Amino acid sequence: MVNPGTFVDDAVDEIREQVGDAHAVIALSGGVDSSVAAALAYEAIGDQLTPVYVDTGLMRKGETDQIRETFSYMDSLRVVEAQDRFFDALAGVTDPEEKRHVIGEQFIREFEREAKESDAEYLVQGTIYPDRIESEGNIKSHHNVGGLPDAVDFEGIVEPVRNLYKDEVREVARALDLEEIVAERMPFPGPGLAVRVIGEVTPEKVEVARDATHVVEEELDEYDPWQAFAAVLGKATGVKGDNRVHGWVVSVRSVESRDGMTARAQELDWETLQRVQSRITGQNENVARVVYDVTHKPPATIEYE
Ligand code: XMP
Repeated sequence: MVNPGTFVDDAVDEIREQVGDAHAVIALSGGVDSSVAAALAYEAIGDQLTPVYVDTGLMRKGETDQIRETFSYMDSLRVVEAQDRFFDALAGVTDPEEKRHVIGEQFIREFEREAKESDAEYLVQGTIYPDRIESEGNIKSHHNVGGLPDAVDFEGIVEPVRNLYKDEVREVARALDLEEIVAERMPFPGPGLAVRVIGEVTPEKVEVARDATHVVEEELDEYDPWQAFAAVLGKATGVKGDNRVHGWVVSVRSVESRDGMTARAQELDWETLQRVQSRITGQNENVARVVYDVTHKPPATIEYE
């Protein structure tokens, strides 16, 4: 990338040329990639763009409100409340790939409905360079690549950040004055907290992962991780007050990486780890223990599923 300002000007021109007077639609995920793609497209074509945000119920704490606020300047923004439909679709599903598949399908269904209503001829996507590489290598099914509506006949796909790495996308976000929290926010997987909960995805487990991830993001900010979060592994025995309980085991993960393709587990000091542990077990009486994941990628992946 030459420089972020020039990139913005060129991308806006390119989108305008490609879309012309037609309508376009974009799925906002809350992440920096789709946020930047949406902001570029909105700058290029204004209200000819319909940004659609689907609240899957699998988002981080406060994320939906953040989206509403950040993109409130886009009059055409649509927020779809789909939490119950996602949890219903996921009931009983435990296989990681099947989970991704179910979420992807449900997402497409929600998005398709909005796309049809908006009469969009173009689909804007926030695909970045590493997404394309991983997708070609088929390491994991990424629901934001190549998995979007078949039933809606788009005339074309617009991918303004397709050649950028994540850190470059962040630079562009700053050049666009996208709020700090969006520009700086850690990457978050398309299937959301569902891949941070092992086994069946239930509202209770997702809530534990969400609250614990919030603590981890706050406490580990000073280590400047590429990603830091918490996952729910299963259940184990603990003691709360005078009682033995069978509570959740929460794993804390914090990694350094350039592009997510490889990663190193961060070395944290004991005091920090203990503070994280005590906040997570303190805020939720159903959490019995907290562990720290010291595994690099490879051999582990960053997410748990
Ligand atoms: P893994 O877990 O494969 O993750 O080491 C590498 C990077 O990709 C993110 N990730 C995803 N992003 N859709 C996405 O948009 C997905 O299905 C998905 N799965 C993993 C992960 O958070 C990390 O940054």
